[in-house]
Amino acid sequence: MFSVMNRPASPDTWVTEQLRAEADRLVRMLADDLQEAIAGVDERMAMPPDPNAALAGLSEPLPEHGSGVWSALERLLELQEAAGTNSAGPRCYHFVVGGNTPAAHGADLVASAFDVLTYTWVVSPVGVRMELQALDWLKELLGLPASLAGVMVTGATMANFVGLAAARQWWGEQLGYDVSETGLAGLPQMPVLTSGYVHAATRKVLALQGVGRGHIQEFTADASGRLDLEAFARGLAALDGHPAVVVANAGEVNAGHFDPLEEMIDLAHEHNCWVHVDGAFGLFAAVSPRTAHLVRGVEKADSVTVDGHKWLNVPYDSGYAFVRDRDLLVRAFRYSADYLPAEDDPRPTMGAIGPESSRRARCFAVWATLKAYGREGHRRIVEHCLDIAQHFASEVDRAPMLERMADVPLNIVAFRFNPGGLDDAELDRLNRQLGEEVLEDGRFLIGTSKLGPRTIFRPAFANWRTRHEDVEELARVIAELGQALLEGSG
Ligand SMILES: Cc1ncc(COP(=O)(O)O)c(C=O)c1O
Repeated sequence: MFSVMNRPASPDTWVTEQLRAEADRLVRMLADDLQEAIAGVDERMAMPPDPNAALAGLSEPLPEHGSGVWSALERLLELQEAAGTNSAGPRCYHFVVGGNTPAAHGADLVASAFDVLTYTWVVSPVGVRMELQALDWLKELLGLPASLAGVMVTGATMANFVGLAAARQWWGEQLGYDVSETGLAGLPQMPVLTSGYVHAATRKVLALQGVGRGHIQEFTADASGRLDLEAFARGLAALDGHPAVVVANAGEVNAGHFDPLEEMIDLAHEHNCWVHVDGAFGLFAAVSPRTAHLVRGVEKADSVTVDGHKWLNVPYDSGYAFVRDRDLLVRAFRYSADYLPAEDDPRPTMGAIGPESSRRARCFAVWATLKAYGREGHRRIVEHCLDIAQHFASEVDRAPMLERMADVPLNIVAFRFNPGGLDDAELDRLNRQLGEEVLEDGRFLIGTSKLGPRTIFRPAFANWRTRHEDVEELARVIAELGQALLEGSG
């Protein structure tokens, strides 16, 4: 006989009634504010002035008695307005930040309204079926084989985690070990070969997977990181048939350049390697006939990373991993307990083939945008961004004080402010300072990086909202702030 510890109290009506009444009115109460926020996206500053001042009051002890739902939500909206970047807006080109198509945005609000959990079929038949359907559509859109298994994750870092977990599992099995059961202890170092275009996210993943971020071998032909194909071929030959992992990069972040995927994959496969392609944003080159040549051969990869919150223009967070052998994912991410679905249950469990168990319905936004706009709509969005990048490149070329630093194969334009008369070291210093000024100014959100040894700006265009006049203004603002900086220091 199981005893009850305490006599049940009568229900707390604040929990049973008031919270319910608030929930019933929630969407109506927020609707006007959210409508206004979305309608203002084109006009709002990329970065509001002095966010620190607005955030000063945020540190406070945990309230004993809460302020109430409307007061808390009003405060949240106020803080977002005063100290949040306008990352869905047309003037945010830092990192690789995409926008939101209206269909994707609406579907994401629906996912939040229903608080959908997509771990397994039993908790959301529609979520699981929709994820599989959306992944199938993504493969069609991006020119990937229908046979690849897919899973949705938070972004490209985690998609790389999935692809490289499959690679590591495969590598261990080649040596006769199930590394997800036994770990890596006692095994030789897993060789990882790549070019200098490799993204920091891959290093992070290798660190997390016990391979070590320091063990990656980069074969670079120049300071920008371009692959040295001959040295890479020699590196592969030196493996002497032992299994290894190759990371090929489709779209690097400084100038949007690509590894030669087809040559790299064919060569690597001749040498018993697993090839993972990181195409976080670059795989969208496949969507337009103008750029599809850049990703020729990707269909031969063993695993592929793609991001949705970048160029698919779905809300954060949303990334996708595709892997040629679903069973490898099952072995790598095995997750079982008596209360969970059995491995041989024919109803799919997405949480058993990826790192996350509880997961939101990212698939709603992906499905909705592909359903609403189709291949053609997304091709037009990608080509709009390609045109914007070319237009901005020509603005840079026309501007007497701006210097383009690389060709523009895709959607990133590497350039710097160069008023003349300064050497490279002085220009690096000036552009770093100017980078801070531009962030402070707040009209645009745009970052600096290095292309080889040189400091550059590297706006990445991946948002349908960006207009030609936005990037014309960007060229003017950089020149204006650069000039002011020179005058101030002169
Ligand atoms: C090539 C590449 N890989 C990985 C990432 C990491 O992506 P996420 O921030 O979605 O995890 C990025 C982000 O810009 C990227 O460009």
